[in-house]
Amino acid sequence: MDGPALTTRIPTPPWGDFADRHLVGIDEYVKTGGYTALQKALSMKPAEVIEAVKSAELRGRGGAGFPCGMKWGFLPEPDGGRRYLALNCDEAEPGTFKDRLLIDFDPHMVLEGMAIACWACQLDTAYFFIRGEYREQIPVVENAIREAYEYGIFGKQGLFKGTVPFAVDCYLHKSAGAYICGEETGLIEAIEGKRAWPRIKPPFPAVEGIFRRPTIVNNVETLAAVPGILVKGADWFKSMGCESSIGGPGSYGPKLMGVSGHVARPGVYECDLGISVREIVEQYCGGMRGGKAYKACIPGGVSMGVLGRDQFDAELDFDIGRKYDLMGLGTACPILCDQDTDMVAVARNISRFFRNESCGQCTPCRDGSEWLYKLLLRIERGDGYTNDLDMVLEIAGSMGIIPGTTICGLADGNNWAVKTIVNKFRDEFEARVKPSLQPIDASMKRALQVVTVGES
Ligand SMILES: Cc1cc2nc3c(=O)[nH]c(=O)nc-3n(C[C@H](O)[C@H](O)[C@H](O)COP(=O)(O)O)c2cc1C
Ligand code: SF4
Repeated sequence: MDGPALTTRIPTPPWGDFADRHLVGIDEYVKTGGYTALQKALSMKPAEVIEAVKSAELRGRGGAGFPCGMKWGFLPEPDGGRRYLALNCDEAEPGTFKDRLLIDFDPHMVLEGMAIACWACQLDTAYFFIRGEYREQIPVVENAIREAYEYGIFGKQGLFKGTVPFAVDCYLHKSAGAYICGEETGLIEAIEGKRAWPRIKPPFPAVEGIFRRPTIVNNVETLAAVPGILVKGADWFKSMGCESSIGGPGSYGPKLMGVSGHVARPGVYECDLGISVREIVEQYCGGMRGGKAYKACIPGGVSMGVLGRDQFDAELDFDIGRKYDLMGLGTACPILCDQDTDMVAVARNISRFFRNESCGQCTPCRDGSEWLYKLLLRIERGDGYTNDLDMVLEIAGSMGIIPGTTICGLADGNNWAVKTIVNKFRDEFEARVKPSLQPIDASMKRALQVVTVGES
């Protein structure tokens, strides 16, 4: 073919030139103790491996914080048919870029975690589901999977060169590139070759997942934690992190926290769960950018909600939702906002994201997200009324799994993001709106007629 050759654009991330990164290939991984956790797991019974993960109290790193060992325990007994693992590397949550780092530097740690999960749960087919936009990471994963096959981890001879007569095949699946592809049942539909429309649960994927067969969906960082737990033990894992301060399950282990926004040194930092937002900003990120004051923090992807002006000392652990009026910890990748941030614009921007990413199956999400966006845009432009604020809260509060009106949690994410920003920064919204002149229903009609100039 004529014309210039296609070249891959290599970005320059904050930690230096991408081309200079230290990517650990299989030789170095094995030399430094890699795949010994898998060997150890294969010397144990599958149920014992699940027990080891349960005693470490490893909680999912994909957003919900669900106990990993408990999820594995939900699988039915093997019946001779196929059973699947889906590794969730869709990572489309705004502000979240931690899983990408694991692949950039240490893809075999993730593959080892996958192989251990397959043995523990007796899953014979593994999908590495990767975000379509991760163009630089896709060849890295392809290469790592090829190396793992050549080294005898995967393949028909059985796990780890036939150590056990249990064979696992591993495939790379490139995502279509929508936020909803990361929702576990949307992801399953996508792997089946369909549009990523989430499914109504139950049945849960452990019972009916890919091709209606038992399936485990886990986040990249969750499975990357498993080899360490197997080799070093549950006590080692639980020596990091913290107990719950409100009588719930603990938050243990290290956590990758991708910090972005108005900080001097954004980046991904490995911290113990329980570190406060202030500590991570001051000790790791060089403080707020330009020495400005903290104003707000979106602690775990935009869908969890926002921490207010007086919540800079909030601890980043799984209690954060109950303690600071958020949906949860989410991905623990904080976005910092400084004193000059326009919180009305933040709310409008986030609502636009959810409006664009709604898959459209559920009316409260499809239409509610559109209404929220239009109302917030109107308020931002100074054309809103006091009524509009109440309407924003009413619409937000009525969409999601928690109020019981939608199939998946995307709508809850929209709900929590918008309502926490409005509630915690209401003064900024009130300063922008005019006193209401008309009843709420007339105002609602007007909301639907707003022309969104310059926005799509
Ligand atoms: C709209 C939406 C998007 C999601 N995107 C991701 C994602 O990109 N990566 C991820 O691991 N989990 C994502 N999740 C959570 C998954 O549904 C699922 O809980 C997770 O992959 C389970 O893994 P874990 O238990 O190891 O955390 C998303 C959830 C929702 C509702
Ligand atoms: S809540 Fe929204 S994204 Fe989720 S299934 Fe319903 S319409 Fe689709």
